[in-house]
This record gives sequence, structure tokens and C-alpha cells, in this order.
Amino acid sequence: MRRIDYGLGIVAGMLALAPQIAHARDLDVFANGQEISVAALSDNIVRIRVWPKGQEPRDESWAVARKIRDGRAEAQVDGASLSTDRMTVVVDPKTLAVRVLDPQGKVIVSDVDPIERKGTAFTIDKSLDLGEHIFGMGDKTGGVDRRGKSFTNWNTDAYGFDNATDPIYKSIPFYVSVGGKGGAYGLLLDNTYRSWFDFGHRNANRIEIGAVDGPVDYYVIAGPTMRDVVRGYTHLTGKAPMPPRWMLGYQQSRWSYMSEKEVRDLAARLRKDRVPTDVIWLDIDFQDRNRPFTINHETFPHFKQMIGDLDAMGIKTVAIADLHIAHAPDQGYAPFDQGMAQDRFVRNADGSLYIAPVWPGPSVFPEFTQASTRAWWGTLFKGLVDDGVAGIWNDMNEPAIFDTPTKTMPLTVRDRISGPDHATRVTDQREIHNVFGMENSRATYEGLLKLRPNERPFVMTRASYAGGQRYAATWTGDNSSTWEHLKLSVSQTLNLGLSGFSWAGADVGGFTGGPSPELLTRWFEYATFAPIFRDHSQKDAPRSEPWVDGPEQLAIRRRYVDARYRLMPYLYAVAAHTAATGDPFMRPIAYDYPGVLDSGCDMSMQFTVGGALLVAGNPKPESPRSYSACLPKGGWYDYWTGEKVTGKPFEDGSVSQLEIAPKLDTLPVFVRAGTILPRQPLVQSTSEVPEGPLELDVYPGPDCHGTLYDDDGHSLDFERGDYARQQITCTMNGDRLTSLTISAREGTYVPWWKEMRVVIYGSDGYTASISGKPVAMSNSKLGSSFTIPASAAATSIVFSPARGSQ
Ligand code: GLC
Repeated sequence: MRRIDYGLGIVAGMLALAPQIAHARDLDVFANGQEISVAALSDNIVRIRVWPKGQEPRDESWAVARKIRDGRAEAQVDGASLSTDRMTVVVDPKTLAVRVLDPQGKVIVSDVDPIERKGTAFTIDKSLDLGEHIFGMGDKTGGVDRRGKSFTNWNTDAYGFDNATDPIYKSIPFYVSVGGKGGAYGLLLDNTYRSWFDFGHRNANRIEIGAVDGPVDYYVIAGPTMRDVVRGYTHLTGKAPMPPRWMLGYQQSRWSYMSEKEVRDLAARLRKDRVPTDVIWLDIDFQDRNRPFTINHETFPHFKQMIGDLDAMGIKTVAIADLHIAHAPDQGYAPFDQGMAQDRFVRNADGSLYIAPVWPGPSVFPEFTQASTRAWWGTLFKGLVDDGVAGIWNDMNEPAIFDTPTKTMPLTVRDRISGPDHATRVTDQREIHNVFGMENSRATYEGLLKLRPNERPFVMTRASYAGGQRYAATWTGDNSSTWEHLKLSVSQTLNLGLSGFSWAGADVGGFTGGPSPELLTRWFEYATFAPIFRDHSQKDAPRSEPWVDGPEQLAIRRRYVDARYRLMPYLYAVAAHTAATGDPFMRPIAYDYPGVLDSGCDMSMQFTVGGALLVAGNPKPESPRSYSACLPKGGWYDYWTGEKVTGKPFEDGSVSQLEIAPKLDTLPVFVRAGTILPRQPLVQSTSEVPEGPLELDVYPGPDCHGTLYDDDGHSLDFERGDYARQQITCTMNGDRLTSLTISAREGTYVPWWKEMRVVIYGSDGYTASISGKPVAMSNSKLGSSFTIPASAAATSIVFSPARGSQ
């Protein structure tokens, strides 16, 4: 630790014995009545804190766990700079302005003005290069690139939002900048108060970041790639955990399926119409008078049995449990009675109970900032869990309050904080509002884990904060049945993925308004490739189940749901990769192909699933006119036909363009040449064991690889080695495949497939052999295929051209 205070003439080292010094390699500098502390948490992440001299804020965070905050990388402190292998932070000793440099000395980001303070508020001004594009910030509207826009972070129930509405449900004060001179970087402002980010809107060369109160406490994550930044961010704030496999299945919801009969009829219809389905959602009306943790036994007379019967059909039940507890004294409503007896609810500044209207009428609100209250909340799920409910939906947790212009609690509502990572203290909604929803979903997640210690909890939350991905999946709230919202569903899900929330989706078909047949069909097509595929709609809006527009539309929609289920081995392997690395499941093209960033091509409706599968949607999804899809350089195959495609290369070679004439029954999807894509026979639910071989679709090309991953789909046994993983690679000679190698199986799990059917696209015929023994091969115009027994041992298949082909 060195301290330099030019303002006071105290030189480096003199304060080295100051008692608050915790970390030997941090850089601390004071000047002009302010102090800055820079700590290298890893070789590409620094934490920067600035405070008025003598007022060092508590080292606390809801987003970044203490063990991560306490981590330190090797770093050299030299004068007023701190360097790791991957970045250097230089502090101006007079102004405390910060410059972050890459190892070559290129500026990643720098302060363009000293921090400005006005009362409790502050503003930080960062540089913004001409070439920078900005992503992240969670579910915010306005398209994928945030450049030129400004945003406020204040969790808001945003019913009826549109592409310009801000703020909406979540506050994730984190962005990724890509395209600057020093490479990509990310910045998380870990401040829960109302904050704002202006990305060159007010001043084209600046990013302005501010908050009304709270600490100047932020992290800079150096790239140089977008992938490095997102991985770094999920190192800081945690990874979205491995979901149960059924989360990847088709999910049917409605506010509300009103009765047991309706739910049973729905399940029967889904099966009869052969729409593969994994989940039915129960919205508020399954409850008694909208009271969380109750059941309306008149309309759902055999609740537990219904859930069991659905389970037997391969359909899980997710039930809503909002955070508000009905204010129902002396009515035998246990959540209220217990909560009152144990002093679990938030209070007004004068100590009176805070009571406000939401779905159950007058309601009270658990104080999720207290560890003991979170633990108590977790116990409330016992009944639902015993009844067999598989997952929990936490809605309205901005928190949403009816009949008030602010749509939420007064700022003065008191929040007591206690728990292992926080000093015990009392604060109010100004500080807590933005984390209330996250702590609600955390309490649910931890409660489910306690009740079912070896099951992966599934929680869906509407509001959250940075790090909320550790506890819950999310959705984009009350969207509308418009083409604009179909577009928004793509940009919001992409930015949520870059903000840690890999498990996200939008209400398919739109929540309000009722979709046209074409819109609902298109939405099914896109959602097929989204992390969460849930059809949901508002009470009184036209219905939006897959069959509502007749057999022709149903046939298209079903074909897409089928495609998702056929892709399940790939999707599940991507999910496992996502949970392990933080790489989003659904990604902007530039995540894996950075060269496309400045191609000038409109890729606003393009994305990949796991990098290899590229969806090339129409930037004007409602338009029948043809459009250009842009494929990153390298070869691509048409996923639907297996044919190799060749586009028209752009001048700079970064992309090639394909002219696409839109057809309602086709969403163009391409596979990177060099992909080995695992697929499976069609099933009606992920709990059904597929019959027949696992399919390995080989799309020859450079860097040829794929991954097989399997486990039991729901327990935490995979964490103790009970999974199966095999890497598959192939070698090429020019355009021809020469070998395919499947590695020995890692892990103790035995996957369902007994055989593998290998399909090689884009060839005019091969012969194949394993250990010198020929393999029976069938060659067709599109490619060659053969079937081999699945094996836990490594297998290598050698190819030569078929006789008659060159
Ligand atoms: C909120 C949710 C919506 C839900 C409704 C009733 O509006 O966003 O999804 O259906 O409440 O619970």
C-alpha cells in the first residue's frame, strides 16, 4: 500500500501504517479533499472507489460478494499507477482523474473531468471514442447499441412500455464498450441509489455516470474482447446457474388459467395437438383472493393431484408468488400472522406498518434486506413445494404499488439491513428500492434450495439489480403485441445476456393487445432460439395459445417448437457452457465475430445461439420486402436445408450478404462451417427419453468442433461429477473431411443415447472406417451418413472420398 497526497504534501509510504489499510497492493491517493483507492481484483478487473477525505464508505455490496471483493491479483504500484499483466490504472495526483490503459499503453477509458459532487450526488465523466459501441444495461429499451442514449436506473413497473420508455423493470448499472482504441471494456457502477448513464447523448464524446447518493464505487473490466468483459463481469457478480433442462422447453402461460379444469384441458390440448411442452404457468388467479401462498380450492379442488397428473404428462408447473402479503389481520392468513409476529415487514419512517394496495388489496412487504427475513420468506414455499410445484415466479417486485403516481413505495419507507455481508443498520427506499426485487428473488432461490437441497431452483423475477442472475431467470415484463415489441424482445434479451442474465425471455405474442396471426407465428419462430420460450398474455387480451389462429398457423408454430426440441442436446450443451463461463446463451453476432461490428450492415434482428447457430432475422420483421442478411466471414450452411450458402462479400471482407425474400413459414437460420451440432429425435417434453440415435450433424469447415453434454437435467449431482461430456473435433484437407474424433466421456453420467447417427453435410460422398474397419455409409446429394454405437471410450473415424467422387 502506498499513499500519495500531493495536496497535503504527504508522500508515498508515509501513511503506510494507517489502520484502515487492508490490502498490500492497492493504490491510494489523496488530493483536494478527496481520496481514491484502486484495487486489482483480478488481472483484468479493478475496483475504483473515491470518497471525500475522511469519509471512507463501508465496503459493502449487494452485487459483488465479499470473497470476490477481497480477491487481489498480482499488481505493481508505481507512484500513482497500478499495473497488472493486462491493464494499468494511472491516477492524476492533482485531480484524481483516472486513466485505464492496456499493456501497450493504449487508453481503454479515461476521466475527462474530475468527479463532480453536488450535495450527496456525483457525476463521473468518462471518455467515449468515435468507434465505441455500448451494450449491456440489462433490459433497457432503445435497441441493442446504447450509444447516443441516456438512461436512468430506477426499477419501475412499466406496463405498456415502448421502445423509448425508461426506466423499466431492472437496474443493471453495467455497460460493455466495444470498438474503442484500447479494446473492449466494461464498467459496473455498484451503487443502488437512483443512477443515470449518458452514452454520448448530451455530449458526443463523453459517458456521464452519476447517482443521487451513495458511494463512488465502480469496477472497470478490461477486454480486449467483449467476451473477456462479459466473463469478467460474471466473475464479479456471479454466473447464471445451470437451469433445469425443462426451462429450455416450451412454456405455456396466461393471466390466468382460471381453474383446474382449464389447466387440465390446456395440457390435454397441448398433447393432442402435439405441441411439445414442458411447463404450464399458474398466474395469480389460482390463489385465494390473489393472496400469495394460498390456493383457491373452489376452482382448484385437487391442486396437488393436478400437479402430479401434469407431471405424469411431462409438464411441470410454475406458480406465481408475488412479494406482497395481504394485510389480513385475524383471518388466519399465516404469512401475514407470522410476519407480524416476527416483525418481518417494512415500516414507515415513523415506525408504523407500511400498507399499500397491490393484487390482494392492502398489502405489506417483507423486509428482504434482513437475512432472517429472507430465510423466513423461504420457508413459505413449503406448501407449494410439497404440492409438487417445480418453479416460482416472483412478479411485481420493483416493488409495484397501485394507486400512486410513483408506482412504488415512498422513498422514506424504512429498510433495516442485516446479514453476513452488511453492517447492521437502518436505511430507506432511496438506497434499497433498486435491490428489493433481487433480494426477493434471492430469498426465494435460497428458500427453494433449502427445501429441496439437491434440486436446481427455478425462479423467475421481474425486477433485479446487478448480480440478480445468481438467483433468478427473468423476462421483459408487460410488453405489447406489436412488431416493435418483437424487435425489442431480441435487443432486450441480447443486452440482458451481456449483463449476466443469460436466462431471459419476453412474453411470446406480447402481453397486451393480442397478436395478429402473422405476428404470433413470427414470435414463435424467434422464441425458438431464445433462452426462455414462454407464451404469455394478459387477462382480457385475445388468447395466444399456439392453435388460436387455425391449423395452418399452428403447423408452422409447431414446426418451430419441434425444431427446438430436436436441438435440445445442442441447447443443453450451450446452457452448460453458459453456466460455466458466463458467455450468454443468446448473443449478438459480434460476440463471436467481432469483425462484423463496423460492417454497417443492419444486424438488429440477427443473433447466435452459442456462437454456431445464427438467426438472420429481418430488421423490419413486418415487411414482406426482401432484406440482406449478413453472415460473418467464413462459411455457412442453411440450417433448414443443409446446403452451403455463399453470399456477396462486403468490400472490407468482414461479412457477406445474402438477399432473403421473407416467407412467413421460415426464419433463416445458418450454421457456422466447422460446427458439429448434436440433435435428437423429437419428444413432447424434455422428461421423455428420445427414441433412436443421437444425431451429430457435421458441417465441415475450419476449427471444426462440437460438444456433447448431458446430465439428469434437474439435480445438482452434476456438480459432483455426475455428468457426461465429450468433445468432438474433425480434421479437414481443403474442403474435405478427413477424420472425426469423439473424446472419451468425462464424468460418471450415462447419457440416454445408445447410438449416434453422424450426418456430414456438403460433401459428394465419403467412405469411413473406425480402426481400419469400414463403416456402412449412405451417400446422398446432400451428404453422407452412418450410425455407430455410442461409446464412453474415445472414437476416431477416418474418411476418404467415396469411389466415383473426387
Ligand atoms: C404483471 C406481470 C404479468 C402478470 C400479471 C398478473 O402485470 O408482469 O406477467 O400476468 O402481473 O400477475
